[in-house]
Amino acid sequence: MSLWIPQKHDCPMNAMRIRDMLPEDVPAAADIERISFSTPWSENSFYSEVYGKYSIARVAIINERIVGYIIARLILDEGHLLDLAVCPEFRMRGIARMLMEDVISGLQINRCKAFFLEVRALNSVALKLYEEAGFRVIGTRKNYYKAPVEDACIMMRDLAVRGVDFDSVNGKK
Ligand SMILES: CC(C)(COP(=O)(O)OP(=O)(O)OC[C@H]1O[C@@H](n2cnc3c(N)ncnc32)[C@H](O)[C@@H]1OP(=O)(O)O)[C@@H](O)C(=O)NCCC(=O)NCCS
Repeated sequence: MSLWIPQKHDCPMNAMRIRDMLPEDVPAAADIERISFSTPWSENSFYSEVYGKYSIARVAIINERIVGYIIARLILDEGHLLDLAVCPEFRMRGIARMLMEDVISGLQINRCKAFFLEVRALNSVALKLYEEAGFRVIGTRKNYYKAPVEDACIMMRDLAVRGVDFDSVNGKK
């Protein structure tokens, strides 16, 4: 039986759901992590976040398959993005965008005022995603990443300003 790989327009995104990451989701998330990053998180790192009192760990699911995940941590009234990845064959279908929106809603419910993240300075795909989600570069960390060595852009989104959504930032509204 051949693997079904959805094309851009035959992937029913309304069939996607987002829910909390469970311990049994960790191996599938770690598989996506290993093909997405040069220095991937270990399964233990995922378990720490699944059980963490101040963590938000969410997974995107299509046809009972985990196709992406997002992990953020609450520190006082700030959210910090720790990890985000989508399975390669499911990319460019809006899954990361929906995961971001989901976590931002969770942070706002928890009265967070700002959301911070670090991203490789040359990761243009992620930079575009975050800019469209209302994040702005507020600084850099020189040589922050390894394999390869690369600067980090520090980005922030003000969560006190409600209603900043992808389409309005993107000029689609
Ligand atoms: C970055 C990543 C999570 C994006 O996931 P995705 O589900 O493909 O992203 P989406 O389909 O939700 O795209 C949202 C926006 O991101 C940008 N984007 C996504 N893929 C892109 C690509 N290949 N080229 C340019 N922009 C892209 C676009 O702005 C897009 O919005 P648009 O479709 O309205 O133009 C995914 O590419 C990934 O897992 N990469 C490897 C891990 C990684 O880099 N994680 C981020 C670490 S900080």
